[in-house]
Amino acid sequence: MTDKDMYYNKAKQEDYRARSAYKLQQIDDIANILSGGNTVVDLGAAPGGWLQVAADRVGPSGRVLGVDKQRIDPLDHENRNVSTIRGDITDERTIDRITAEVGDVDAVISDMAPDMTGEYDLDHARSVHLARQALAVAMDVLAPGGDLVAKVFQGRDLDGLRSDVDDPFEYVRTISPDASRDSSSEVFLVGKRRIDAPVTEGETLTVDVTAMGEEGDGIATVDGYTLFVPNTEIGDTVTVVVDSVKPGYGFTERQTWAIWPCCELRVLGMIKQRVPTAGTQTRFAIESRSLRVVFDRSTASQTDCQRDAVVSYWACLNRIHRHD
Ligand SMILES: C[S@@+](CC[C@H](N)C(=O)[O-])C[C@H]1O[C@@H](n2cnc3c(N)ncnc32)[C@H](O)[C@@H]1O
Repeated sequence: MTDKDMYYNKAKQEDYRARSAYKLQQIDDIANILSGGNTVVDLGAAPGGWLQVAADRVGPSGRVLGVDKQRIDPLDHENRNVSTIRGDITDERTIDRITAEVGDVDAVISDMAPDMTGEYDLDHARSVHLARQALAVAMDVLAPGGDLVAKVFQGRDLDGLRSDVDDPFEYVRTISPDASRDSSSEVFLVGKRRIDAPVTEGETLTVDVTAMGEEGDGIATVDGYTLFVPNTEIGDTVTVVVDSVKPGYGFTERQTWAIWPCCELRVLGMIKQRVPTAGTQTRFAIESRSLRVVFDRSTASQTDCQRDAVVSYWACLNRIHRHD
């Protein structure tokens, strides 16, 4: 029996409206998208196979909103937690109706597919367009930490799309479920855990440390968003580079500087942390107000660092360069 027959027959036996129901089951088993109590928006939901799976997995305390330009027959679902909208997702009014119906959602899942022309590049480009629409809807309605699933046909614009999905999520993965036909070029991009942060990775900013974390790092907040700042104390004002951004919190590093060894500058301060240096260049992180040396040149011994020793170092002040 071919894979097509197998999933087709299984869907008939198990009362699923479409064999694609098994794709969502498999994606969810791999990537953990649907949990009890979740609110889910299902784009391209007709005839309703994904709706049935999503409704089962979010359970009676969850909610699923299906959207399609085609009519979706009402789901006689025991949990009565499914509603539908008939509309084209490329029409702004459909997006307005979605946002009016649901607030912050936990997942946006899209199995949208264009009407096939048989022309590979065109079908690919149209599927990328629909996946980008799904990403736009996700940016409108997904709560921080929420997930996106978007179907797309493989082709030359897939990498660009994948990287655009990666940006607002903690990470992206590409899944090819077994239930997809062998002959199909479809894959599903899964954006995991939406990041909704007022800062971006690599950004430099000056922050006030207002609390201490359990691990001993300082905590600063930017528009209510928590940043962990190593080697600081409450009351410090420091310049940091954002190192990694997660949903709800991020990590920073103290801004570092490169000092050319031929220069002369006397810096007196406390060694706070040794940071690995590349090549022969010596790097410092300096808190400009107090000129506190956060880590020292490579010749300083580990013992010095551990003792928080006061060190001096000769270099020219005017030859200090920020290290990017
Ligand atoms: C593969 S089917 C979805 C099957 C569905 N996931 C299920 O399990 O029953 C693709 C759907 O995408 C819908 N679609 C395509 N373009 C759309 C658009 N611009 N707006 C809304 N729905 C769209 C089609 O009408 C079609 O029903």
